[in-house]
Amino acid sequence: MKLCMIGTGYVGLVSGVCFSDFGNDVICVDKDENKINSLKKGKVPIYEPGLSELVVKNFRNKRLSFSNNLKESVKNSDIVFICVGTPTKKGGSSADLSQVYNVAKEISSSINRFKIIITKSTVPVTTGDEIEKIIARKNSKKKFSVVSNPEFLREGEAINDFTFPDRIVVGCNDKKSNRILTNLYSPLISKGAQYLNTSRRAAELIKYASNAFLATKITFINEIANLCEKTGINVEDISIGMGLDKRIGSRFLRAGPAYGGSCFPKDTKAIISTADKFKSNLSVIKSVIKSNENRSNILLKRVHQILNNKVKNKKISFLGVTFKANTDDMRDSSSLTMIPSLSKKGAIITYYDPTGFKKDFAKYKNVNYENSIKKIIEGSDLVIIHTEWNDFKSINFKNLAKKKKFIIYDMRNIYSSKKMKQDGFEYFSVGS
Ligand SMILES: NC(=O)c1ccc[n+]([C@@H]2O[C@H](COP(=O)([O-])OP(=O)(O)OC[C@H]3O[C@@H](n4cnc5c(N)ncnc54)[C@H](O)[C@@H]3O)[C@@H](O)[C@H]2O)c1
Repeated sequence: MKLCMIGTGYVGLVSGVCFSDFGNDVICVDKDENKINSLKKGKVPIYEPGLSELVVKNFRNKRLSFSNNLKESVKNSDIVFICVGTPTKKGGSSADLSQVYNVAKEISSSINRFKIIITKSTVPVTTGDEIEKIIARKNSKKKFSVVSNPEFLREGEAINDFTFPDRIVVGCNDKKSNRILTNLYSPLISKGAQYLNTSRRAAELIKYASNAFLATKITFINEIANLCEKTGINVEDISIGMGLDKRIGSRFLRAGPAYGGSCFPKDTKAIISTADKFKSNLSVIKSVIKSNENRSNILLKRVHQILNNKVKNKKISFLGVTFKANTDDMRDSSSLTMIPSLSKKGAIITYYDPTGFKKDFAKYKNVNYENSIKKIIEGSDLVIIHTEWNDFKSINFKNLAKKKKFIIYDMRNIYSSKKMKQDGFEYFSVGS
């Protein structure tokens, strides 16, 4: 099948590359010329484990191509995926759908034969209806079908998540499109993925409800961690004890910093905004957002306590600054709140991240990037483990503490509190 992915970001590029790997002809389109030019040279503009190898392999096989020309690419395709961004509207909380609707308008003038138009972008309930209206202004409804097929991949695990999904949700009422999509996804269905056909609106809501639920799980355990800190309990015991209950499950039940990234913060806000539009009150999700927004303040308060409220001129090093491990994505990372706050209080911050320097901190004169874990730890007063990269899981702290002692605040509970204390470290973790 000939596929066109519009928007070559995390979702469009990963799904496009995986579809081409299953034997489809895929053209990935983006309006960003630099992105397309580097992809044509085999350079992948985002960090995602395993992605570069698959891009190069399928580009060489000529099953994968890249283009800036949306109209021509749509004309040459049978299935068109909309994978552009749906960020929070500036100054508001609803999803900004301008990128989606602009793409729908462009598609509408390129319908030269029957096409399935699929929204993979996360979009609020009724967006599919709107896309259909836009395309129908220039085309007979017989020539196209608008389908919702939300994406559930996680950055850092994207290839695996796309290739071995728990479920594939396809929201469409028309039998022909459903048959074609069952066929497209057959390599995944045959490996055990559940294919769920729902109404278009239900598929749109499944995505938001799922993200809001996962955000709730994280926030829930973060609040339990606060209670553990006050009662001398280790939250890790609680996570294990709760997670063993199959009705609850252990995933997304690890206490740590505020959830961030390109999805949970914006999607929780957007689902509230949709519910408000339909005069429905999602009070649980509202309190999740509020609690998460306060999470960085709670962790910052602990940093101040750890340093006896003497943050000025203290050397604080951050291990990892992205919103989680195995990604270069800084969107809504809690480091974007914590580092500026500590820097304003006069701390001298150095950070290391396996994905390199981040321009987000360039404007702070007492915040510097250092290209070596060893260098940033040596000489620190406080080491903050902010993300859970494997690179941070077996650091020889004993060796590094030979020159000068430092305190460790492990925000991901990577190390054993007992062992670290036995080794003589002043070690703090979350929820204990
Ligand atoms: N990132 C994730 O982990 C993830 C997971 C599931 C779902 N989603 C959803 O998928 C959507 C895309 O997310 P993303 O993280 O891949 O975004 P992204 O910002 O990484 O990529 C979006 C791309 O679309 C391009 N674009 C915008 N307008 C365009 C146009 N008119 N023509 C061609 N290209 C255009 C941009 O240049 C950009 O490269 C969002 O709705 C997001 O919520 C993301």
